[in-house]
Amino acid sequence: MKKKLKSKYDIKQMRISGKITANVLEMIKPYIVPDISTEDINKICHNFITLKKKAIPACLGYNNFPKSICISINDVVCHGIPNKNLFLKNGDIVNIDVSVIKNDYYTDASKMFFVGKVDKKNKLLCKTTRKSLYLSLACIKPENKINNIGKIIQKYIENKKFSVVKEYCGHGIGKKFHDFPHILHFYNKTNNIEIKEGMTFTVEPMVNTKSSYVKCMNDGWTVKTLDGGYSAQYEHTILVTNNGCEILTHQKKEKIPKILINI
Ligand code: MF3
Ligand code: CO
Repeated sequence: MKKKLKSKYDIKQMRISGKITANVLEMIKPYIVPDISTEDINKICHNFITLKKKAIPACLGYNNFPKSICISINDVVCHGIPNKNLFLKNGDIVNIDVSVIKNDYYTDASKMFFVGKVDKKNKLLCKTTRKSLYLSLACIKPENKINNIGKIIQKYIENKKFSVVKEYCGHGIGKKFHDFPHILHFYNKTNNIEIKEGMTFTVEPMVNTKSSYVKCMNDGWTVKTLDGGYSAQYEHTILVTNNGCEILTHQKKEKIPKILINI
C-alpha cells in the first residue's frame, strides 16, 4: 500500500508551523535565568504562541497535560510540568520542549538551556546529545532506512560513554501530533522501513549521563532517570526532500544548515 505523503500545501503549512516553534525557542532564551519559575516560562511561551503567533500550544490538554510546554530540569528526562513553585537555579540544565499547531499542522522541537554556570560534564552531555541529533540528520534521504537514524545516534552516544533512553521515540508528525513511523534512537533491526520524499517526522534523542533507565513520577507525566543521572534532549521536526532533509524547526543560531543535502 502506498503511504500518502505530504502535498505542496502540506509542506507550506509545515514550514509555517515549524518557524513558529523555532521562534518560541529563540524568544525564550533571555528568560532562562536563576529564580524564574517554570510556570512563568510557560506563561511567556503560551502568550507568544497564542497572542503573537495566533497558534495553539499542542501540549496543552494533550492527554490532559496541564500546561503549554514541557520543561525538564537536570535528572528529568522529559515531560516536566511547569510549576509556580519550581524555580531555576544556577547550574541547572533545562530542556524546553515546544509543540505548536498552526492551521491544523503540528511541529515539535526542543533544546537545552544552561542556567548560570554549568558543570563541564553536563555541558558535554548537552553538546553530545545535540551532535548525535545533527549526525543522524545527515543520513536522512530517500531510500535510506529509518533505523539508520537510531544506529547513528546510539553509536555516537555510547562511544562518548553516555546512554540512550529507549522508552521514548521520535514520530511522524503533520496533521497528527504523533503518527507513524516510530523513530527509535537506538538500533533496531526490524524498524527498517524506507525513508521517502515528503515524509515529516521528529528526531528527539534523550541521553543520560549514567544508566538509560527511567521512571515516571506520580503526577503521571514527569519522567526522571532511575539513578539520578542527568539527562539531555534535542529535538527537530524534519521534512525529507529529494536529496536530503530540511529542518522545519531550524533556529537562527544553530550551527547546522537548515537544508541538508545528503547525497
Ligand atoms: N514534545 C513531546 C513529544 O515529543 C510532547 C509530549 S506530550 C506532552 O512528543 F503532553 F507531554 F506535552
Ligand atoms: Co516529539
